[in-house]
Amino acid sequence: MSFGHLKSSPSRRVAIVGAGAIGLSIGWRLAAAGCSVDIFDRGAAGQGATRAAGGMLAAAAEVEPAEDALVALCRRSQAMWADFAAELEAASGIDVELRREGTLVIALTADDLGKLRRTAELQQRLGIGTRWLPGGEVRRIEPYLSPRVSGALHCPDDHQVENRKVGAALARAYQAAGGRLHEHVAVEGIATTDGRVLGLRIGDGLHEADTVVVAAGAWSRGLGGLPDGLRPPVRPVKGQMLALRMPSGEPLLRHVLWTPGAYLIPRRDGRLLIGATVEERGFDENLTAGGLLSLLESAWRAVPGIEELPVEETWVGFRPGSRDDAPILGPGGIAGLVMATGHHRNGILLTPATAELVARHVLTGEVDPAMAPFGIDRFSRTR
Ligand code: GLY
Repeated sequence: MSFGHLKSSPSRRVAIVGAGAIGLSIGWRLAAAGCSVDIFDRGAAGQGATRAAGGMLAAAAEVEPAEDALVALCRRSQAMWADFAAELEAASGIDVELRREGTLVIALTADDLGKLRRTAELQQRLGIGTRWLPGGEVRRIEPYLSPRVSGALHCPDDHQVENRKVGAALARAYQAAGGRLHEHVAVEGIATTDGRVLGLRIGDGLHEADTVVVAAGAWSRGLGGLPDGLRPPVRPVKGQMLALRMPSGEPLLRHVLWTPGAYLIPRRDGRLLIGATVEERGFDENLTAGGLLSLLESAWRAVPGIEELPVEETWVGFRPGSRDDAPILGPGGIAGLVMATGHHRNGILLTPATAELVARHVLTGEVDPAMAPFGIDRFSRTR
Protein backbone atom coordinates (compact mmCIF):
# COMPACT_ATOMS: atom_id res chain seq x y z
CA MET A 1 0.00 0.00 0.00
CA SER A 2 1.40 3.38 -0.95
CA PHE A 3 0.99 6.52 1.11
CA GLY A 4 2.09 8.77 -1.73
CA HIS A 5 -1.31 10.50 -1.68
CA LEU A 6 -0.84 11.41 1.99
CA LYS A 7 2.14 13.72 1.76
CA SER A 8 2.83 15.28 5.13
CA SER A 9 4.36 18.65 5.69
CA PRO A 10 8.11 17.95 5.54
CA SER A 11 8.49 19.64 8.91
CA ARG A 12 6.42 16.98 10.69
CA ARG A 13 8.82 15.31 13.08
CA VAL A 14 7.98 11.83 14.30
CA ALA A 15 9.92 9.94 16.97
CA ILE A 16 9.24 6.21 17.37
CA VAL A 17 10.31 4.20 20.40
CA GLY A 18 11.13 0.66 19.33
CA ALA A 19 12.82 -0.66 16.18
CA GLY A 20 10.91 -3.92 15.92
CA ALA A 21 8.67 -4.87 13.01
CA ILE A 22 5.91 -2.57 14.28
CA GLY A 23 8.03 0.55 14.83
CA LEU A 24 10.07 0.06 11.65
CA SER A 25 7.04 -0.53 9.43
CA ILE A 26 5.26 2.55 10.75
CA GLY A 27 8.49 4.53 10.32
CA TRP A 28 8.88 3.23 6.77
CA ARG A 29 5.38 4.38 5.84
CA LEU A 30 5.85 7.79 7.46
CA ALA A 31 9.31 8.41 6.03
CA ALA A 32 7.99 7.46 2.57
CA ALA A 33 5.16 9.99 3.07
CA GLY A 34 7.67 12.78 3.71
CA CYS A 35 7.86 12.90 7.51
CA SER A 36 11.13 13.41 9.32
CA VAL A 37 11.35 10.16 11.30
CA ASP A 38 13.72 8.99 14.04
CA ILE A 39 13.46 5.51 15.55
CA PHE A 40 15.19 4.71 18.83
CA ASP A 41 15.85 1.27 20.24
CA ARG A 42 17.54 0.15 23.44
CA GLY A 43 19.21 -2.65 21.43
CA ALA A 44 19.75 -3.42 17.76
CA ALA A 45 16.88 -3.15 15.27
CA GLY A 46 14.67 -6.21 14.99
CA GLN A 47 16.35 -8.08 17.85
CA GLY A 48 13.44 -8.25 20.33
CA ALA A 49 10.15 -10.05 19.71
CA THR A 50 10.68 -9.60 15.96
CA ARG A 51 13.70 -11.93 16.10
CA ALA A 52 12.22 -14.32 18.65
CA ALA A 53 8.94 -14.87 16.77
CA GLY A 54 8.05 -17.77 14.50
CA GLY A 55 6.70 -15.63 11.66
CA MET A 56 3.39 -17.49 11.43
CA LEU A 57 0.61 -15.51 9.77
CA ALA A 58 -1.93 -17.53 11.70
CA ALA A 59 -5.24 -15.67 11.64
CA ALA A 60 -7.13 -18.99 11.50
CA ALA A 61 -5.01 -21.25 13.72
CA GLU A 62 -4.77 -18.62 16.50
CA VAL A 63 -8.51 -17.81 16.46
CA GLU A 64 -10.08 -17.42 19.92
CA PRO A 65 -13.73 -17.07 20.94
CA ALA A 66 -14.99 -13.56 21.82
CA GLU A 67 -12.24 -11.80 19.88
CA ASP A 68 -14.21 -10.84 16.77
CA ALA A 69 -12.62 -7.38 16.30
CA LEU A 70 -9.13 -8.84 16.72
CA VAL A 71 -9.88 -11.67 14.29
CA ALA A 72 -11.10 -9.09 11.75
CA LEU A 73 -7.88 -7.07 12.16
CA CYS A 74 -5.76 -10.22 11.88
CA ARG A 75 -7.54 -11.27 8.71
CA ARG A 76 -7.21 -7.78 7.21
CA SER A 77 -3.48 -7.88 7.88
CA GLN A 78 -3.13 -11.46 6.66
CA ALA A 79 -4.72 -10.45 3.36
CA MET A 80 -2.18 -7.60 3.06
CA TRP A 81 0.90 -9.77 3.57
CA ALA A 82 1.55 -10.91 -0.02
CA ASP A 83 1.67 -7.33 -1.35
CA PHE A 84 3.50 -6.12 1.74
CA ALA A 85 6.20 -8.78 1.31
CA ALA A 86 6.60 -7.94 -2.38
CA GLU A 87 6.85 -4.22 -1.64
CA LEU A 88 9.29 -4.84 1.19
CA GLU A 89 11.46 -7.08 -0.97
CA ALA A 90 11.50 -4.47 -3.75
CA ALA A 91 12.44 -1.71 -1.29
CA SER A 92 15.10 -3.67 0.59
CA GLY A 93 16.44 -6.30 -1.80
CA ILE A 94 15.83 -8.91 0.94
CA ASP A 95 13.63 -11.95 0.27
CA VAL A 96 11.46 -12.36 3.38
CA GLU A 97 10.57 -15.95 2.44
CA LEU A 98 6.79 -15.78 2.38
CA ARG A 99 5.73 -19.42 2.14
CA ARG A 100 2.18 -20.32 1.16
CA GLU A 101 1.74 -24.01 2.01
CA GLY A 102 -0.61 -23.03 4.82
CA THR A 103 -0.95 -24.56 8.28
CA LEU A 104 -2.13 -27.94 9.53
CA VAL A 105 -3.67 -28.10 13.01
CA ILE A 106 -3.56 -31.77 13.90
CA ALA A 107 -5.41 -34.02 16.33
CA LEU A 108 -3.77 -37.00 18.06
CA THR A 109 -6.45 -37.96 20.58
CA ALA A 110 -10.25 -37.98 20.80
CA ASP A 111 -9.98 -34.97 23.09
CA ASP A 112 -7.95 -33.07 20.44
CA LEU A 113 -10.59 -33.99 17.86
CA GLY A 114 -13.34 -32.48 20.02
CA LYS A 115 -11.34 -29.27 20.42
CA LEU A 116 -10.62 -29.05 16.70
CA ARG A 117 -14.30 -29.49 15.96
CA ARG A 118 -15.08 -26.47 18.16
CA THR A 119 -12.28 -24.47 16.48
CA ALA A 120 -13.73 -25.38 13.06
CA GLU A 121 -17.19 -24.21 14.16
CA LEU A 122 -15.77 -20.91 15.36
CA GLN A 123 -13.81 -20.45 12.12
CA GLN A 124 -16.97 -21.17 10.14
CA ARG A 125 -18.99 -18.65 12.16
CA LEU A 126 -16.34 -16.02 11.43
CA GLY A 127 -16.22 -16.89 7.72
CA ILE A 128 -12.67 -18.27 7.88
CA GLY A 129 -12.20 -20.93 5.22
CA THR A 130 -10.56 -24.08 6.60
CA ARG A 131 -10.89 -27.70 5.51
CA TRP A 132 -11.02 -30.93 7.51
CA LEU A 133 -8.56 -33.61 6.35
CA PRO A 134 -8.83 -37.20 7.58
CA GLY A 135 -5.70 -38.84 9.04
CA GLY A 136 -4.76 -40.74 5.87
CA GLU A 137 -4.82 -37.61 3.75
CA VAL A 138 -2.81 -35.62 6.31
CA ARG A 139 -0.12 -38.30 6.34
CA ARG A 140 -0.11 -38.41 2.55
CA ILE A 141 0.79 -34.72 2.34
CA GLU A 142 3.11 -34.85 5.38
CA PRO A 143 4.54 -38.40 5.41
CA TYR A 144 6.70 -37.93 8.52
CA LEU A 145 3.68 -37.40 10.77
CA SER A 146 2.95 -39.98 13.44
CA PRO A 147 0.47 -42.74 12.48
CA ARG A 148 -1.50 -41.58 15.54
CA VAL A 149 -2.57 -38.39 13.74
CA SER A 150 -6.32 -38.82 13.31
CA GLY A 151 -7.01 -35.72 11.25
CA ALA A 152 -6.23 -32.06 10.79
CA LEU A 153 -7.71 -28.71 9.97
CA HIS A 154 -5.96 -27.25 6.96
CA CYS A 155 -5.80 -23.44 7.23
CA PRO A 156 -4.87 -22.54 3.64
CA ASP A 157 -4.25 -18.82 4.28
CA ASP A 158 -2.09 -19.21 7.39
CA HIS A 159 1.26 -18.72 5.67
CA GLN A 160 4.65 -17.93 7.18
CA VAL A 161 7.47 -15.46 6.70
CA GLU A 162 11.07 -15.53 7.90
CA ASN A 163 10.61 -12.92 10.62
CA ARG A 164 14.33 -12.25 11.10
CA LYS A 165 14.57 -11.31 7.45
CA VAL A 166 11.43 -9.19 7.82
CA GLY A 167 13.19 -7.23 10.59
CA ALA A 168 16.33 -6.74 8.48
CA ALA A 169 14.30 -5.81 5.39
CA LEU A 170 12.21 -3.27 7.28
CA ALA A 171 15.32 -1.63 8.76
CA ARG A 172 16.78 -1.32 5.28
CA ALA A 173 13.55 -0.11 3.61
CA TYR A 174 12.97 2.42 6.38
CA GLN A 175 16.45 3.90 6.02
CA ALA A 176 16.25 3.84 2.22
CA ALA A 177 13.09 5.97 2.57
CA GLY A 178 15.08 8.54 4.57
CA GLY A 179 14.33 7.39 8.13
CA ARG A 180 17.02 7.65 10.80
CA LEU A 181 17.71 4.65 13.02
CA HIS A 182 19.30 5.08 16.46
CA GLU A 183 20.31 1.70 17.87
CA HIS A 184 21.56 1.02 21.40
CA VAL A 185 20.03 4.28 22.59
CA ALA A 186 17.90 4.05 25.72
CA VAL A 187 14.90 6.36 25.82
CA GLU A 188 14.30 7.55 29.39
CA GLY A 189 10.80 8.70 28.73
CA ILE A 190 8.33 10.88 26.92
CA ALA A 191 8.57 14.63 27.46
CA THR A 192 5.27 16.48 27.68
CA THR A 193 4.07 20.01 28.34
CA ASP A 194 0.55 21.39 28.74
CA GLY A 195 -1.09 18.15 27.65
CA ARG A 196 0.96 17.54 24.52
CA VAL A 197 4.19 15.75 23.68
CA LEU A 198 7.45 17.65 23.29
CA GLY A 199 9.54 14.67 22.29
CA LEU A 200 11.71 12.06 23.95
CA ARG A 201 14.05 12.34 26.90
CA ILE A 202 17.33 10.67 26.00
CA GLY A 203 20.12 10.92 28.54
CA ASP A 204 20.12 14.55 29.69
CA GLY A 205 18.79 15.80 26.39
CA LEU A 206 15.47 16.28 24.64
CA HIS A 207 14.83 14.91 21.16
CA GLU A 208 12.02 17.15 19.92
CA ALA A 209 9.10 15.69 17.99
CA ASP A 210 5.54 16.62 17.08
CA THR A 211 4.43 13.01 17.33
CA VAL A 212 5.77 10.19 19.49
CA VAL A 213 4.81 6.61 18.62
CA VAL A 214 5.22 4.01 21.36
CA ALA A 215 6.17 0.74 19.66
CA ALA A 216 8.46 -0.68 22.34
CA GLY A 217 6.70 -4.04 22.63
CA ALA A 218 7.00 -5.65 26.05
CA TRP A 219 9.06 -2.67 27.25
CA SER A 220 6.35 -0.10 26.46
CA ARG A 221 4.99 0.15 29.99
CA GLY A 222 8.43 0.98 31.40
CA LEU A 223 8.76 4.25 29.45
CA GLY A 224 8.95 7.20 31.82
CA GLY A 225 7.17 10.52 31.59
CA LEU A 226 3.57 9.36 31.38
CA PRO A 227 1.06 9.52 34.21
CA ASP A 228 0.05 6.07 35.48
CA GLY A 229 -3.31 6.26 33.74
CA LEU A 230 -1.68 6.66 30.31
CA ARG A 231 1.03 4.03 30.56
CA PRO A 232 0.12 1.19 28.21
CA PRO A 233 -0.84 -1.88 30.27
CA VAL A 234 1.56 -4.25 28.53
CA ARG A 235 3.52 -7.05 30.19
CA PRO A 236 6.14 -9.49 28.91
CA VAL A 237 4.77 -12.96 28.13
CA LYS A 238 7.80 -15.21 27.95
CA GLY A 239 8.20 -17.78 25.18
CA GLN A 240 10.96 -20.37 24.85
CA MET A 241 11.74 -21.76 21.40
CA LEU A 242 14.30 -23.93 19.67
CA ALA A 243 15.44 -24.74 16.16
CA LEU A 244 16.47 -28.17 14.89
CA ARG A 245 18.42 -28.80 11.69
CA MET A 246 16.65 -31.00 9.12
CA PRO A 247 18.69 -33.11 6.66
CA SER A 248 19.61 -31.01 3.64
CA GLY A 249 17.21 -31.49 0.76
CA GLU A 250 14.91 -33.61 2.93
CA PRO A 251 12.57 -31.44 4.97
CA LEU A 252 10.52 -33.35 7.54
CA LEU A 253 7.62 -30.95 7.04
CA ARG A 254 6.39 -28.51 4.40
CA HIS A 255 3.39 -27.02 6.20
CA VAL A 256 3.46 -25.13 9.46
CA LEU A 257 2.15 -27.67 11.95
CA TRP A 258 0.19 -27.07 15.14
CA THR A 259 0.01 -29.97 17.53
CA PRO A 260 -1.21 -29.87 21.13
CA GLY A 261 1.54 -28.19 23.17
CA ALA A 262 3.72 -26.93 20.30
CA TYR A 263 3.94 -25.64 16.76
CA LEU A 264 6.57 -26.59 14.18
CA ILE A 265 7.74 -24.25 11.43
CA PRO A 266 9.93 -25.59 8.61
CA ARG A 267 12.23 -22.98 7.09
CA ARG A 268 13.68 -22.92 3.60
CA ASP A 269 17.22 -23.05 4.98
CA GLY A 270 16.54 -26.43 6.65
CA ARG A 271 15.82 -25.22 10.17
CA LEU A 272 12.75 -26.59 11.93
CA LEU A 273 11.52 -24.14 14.56
CA ILE A 274 9.59 -25.47 17.55
CA GLY A 275 7.70 -23.11 19.83
CA ALA A 276 6.64 -21.83 22.14
CA THR A 277 6.02 -21.80 25.85
CA VAL A 278 3.67 -19.18 27.28
CA GLU A 279 4.95 -18.05 30.68
CA GLU A 280 4.15 -15.23 33.07
CA ARG A 281 7.67 -14.75 34.44
CA GLY A 282 8.44 -11.14 33.68
CA PHE A 283 11.69 -10.58 31.77
CA ASP A 284 13.20 -13.90 32.88
CA GLU A 285 15.62 -14.86 30.10
CA ASN A 286 16.35 -18.39 31.32
CA LEU A 287 15.76 -21.38 29.13
CA THR A 288 14.43 -24.18 31.31
CA ALA A 289 14.66 -27.96 31.07
CA GLY A 290 10.91 -28.16 31.63
CA GLY A 291 10.13 -25.63 28.91
CA LEU A 292 12.29 -27.32 26.29
CA LEU A 293 11.19 -30.79 27.38
CA SER A 294 7.51 -29.95 26.96
CA LEU A 295 8.08 -28.43 23.50
CA LEU A 296 10.22 -31.35 22.33
CA GLU A 297 7.88 -33.96 23.74
CA SER A 298 4.83 -32.36 22.11
CA ALA A 299 6.64 -32.01 18.79
CA TRP A 300 8.00 -35.58 18.98
CA ARG A 301 4.51 -37.03 19.51
CA ALA A 302 3.48 -35.49 16.20
CA VAL A 303 6.72 -35.98 14.24
CA PRO A 304 8.75 -38.80 15.85
CA GLY A 305 11.58 -38.32 13.34
CA ILE A 306 12.71 -35.13 15.06
CA GLU A 307 14.44 -37.38 17.60
CA GLU A 308 17.48 -37.69 15.31
CA LEU A 309 17.82 -34.01 14.43
CA PRO A 310 20.59 -31.81 15.85
CA VAL A 311 19.52 -28.88 18.02
CA GLU A 312 20.86 -25.73 16.39
CA GLU A 313 19.57 -22.91 18.53
CA THR A 314 17.47 -22.15 21.59
CA TRP A 315 16.10 -18.76 22.60
CA VAL A 316 13.69 -16.79 24.74
CA GLY A 317 11.46 -13.93 23.63
CA PHE A 318 8.91 -11.66 25.23
CA ARG A 319 5.50 -11.15 23.67
CA PRO A 320 3.96 -7.79 24.54
CA GLY A 321 0.72 -8.91 26.18
CA SER A 322 -1.97 -6.36 26.99
CA ARG A 323 -4.68 -6.92 29.57
CA ASP A 324 -7.08 -8.36 26.98
CA ASP A 325 -4.37 -9.80 24.66
CA ALA A 326 -5.32 -7.36 21.88
CA PRO A 327 -3.02 -4.61 20.58
CA ILE A 328 -3.17 -0.99 21.72
CA LEU A 329 -3.38 1.27 18.68
CA GLY A 330 -4.03 4.94 18.04
CA PRO A 331 -4.31 8.07 20.19
CA GLY A 332 -2.38 7.84 23.45
CA GLY A 333 -4.43 10.26 25.57
CA ILE A 334 -2.07 13.26 25.12
CA ALA A 335 -1.89 15.32 21.93
CA GLY A 336 0.87 13.94 19.74
CA LEU A 337 1.14 10.61 21.55
CA VAL A 338 0.30 7.47 19.55
CA MET A 339 0.28 3.83 20.67
CA ALA A 340 1.32 0.83 18.57
CA THR A 341 2.05 -1.88 21.07
CA GLY A 342 0.61 -4.93 22.84
CA HIS A 343 0.53 -7.20 19.77
CA HIS A 344 1.01 -10.28 21.96
CA ARG A 345 1.03 -13.44 19.76
CA ASN A 346 0.29 -11.58 16.53
CA GLY A 347 3.03 -8.99 15.99
CA ILE A 348 4.37 -10.25 12.68
CA LEU A 349 0.89 -11.05 11.36
CA LEU A 350 -0.40 -7.60 12.33
CA THR A 351 2.57 -5.62 10.98
CA PRO A 352 1.09 -4.55 7.60
CA ALA A 353 -2.29 -3.47 9.03
CA THR A 354 -0.71 -1.73 12.01
CA ALA A 355 1.66 0.19 9.75
CA GLU A 356 -1.20 1.24 7.47
CA LEU A 357 -3.64 2.28 10.20
CA VAL A 358 -1.18 3.94 12.57
CA ALA A 359 0.70 5.80 9.82
CA ARG A 360 -2.59 7.10 8.44
CA HIS A 361 -3.60 8.22 11.92
CA VAL A 362 -0.32 10.10 12.36
CA LEU A 363 -0.71 11.78 8.96
CA THR A 364 -4.40 12.66 9.10
CA GLY A 365 -5.61 12.29 12.67
CA GLU A 366 -8.14 9.75 11.40
CA VAL A 367 -9.01 6.75 13.58
CA ASP A 368 -10.06 4.08 11.10
CA PRO A 369 -13.04 1.96 12.24
CA ALA A 370 -10.75 -1.10 12.01
CA MET A 371 -8.47 0.49 14.61
CA ALA A 372 -11.12 2.04 16.84
CA PRO A 373 -11.74 -1.06 19.03
CA PHE A 374 -8.06 -1.09 20.05
CA GLY A 375 -7.73 2.33 21.67
CA ILE A 376 -5.99 2.59 25.04
CA ASP A 377 -9.16 4.23 26.39
CA ARG A 378 -10.80 0.78 26.56
CA PHE A 379 -8.81 0.10 29.73
CA SER A 380 -9.74 3.30 31.52
CA ARG A 381 -12.68 1.79 33.36
CA THR A 382 -10.58 -1.02 34.83
CA ARG A 383 -7.11 0.50 35.10
N1 GLY B 1 2.25 -16.59 17.66
C1 GLY B 1 2.92 -17.62 18.29
C2 GLY B 1 3.37 -17.36 19.65
O1 GLY B 1 3.20 -16.27 20.15
O2 GLY B 1 3.90 -18.24 20.26
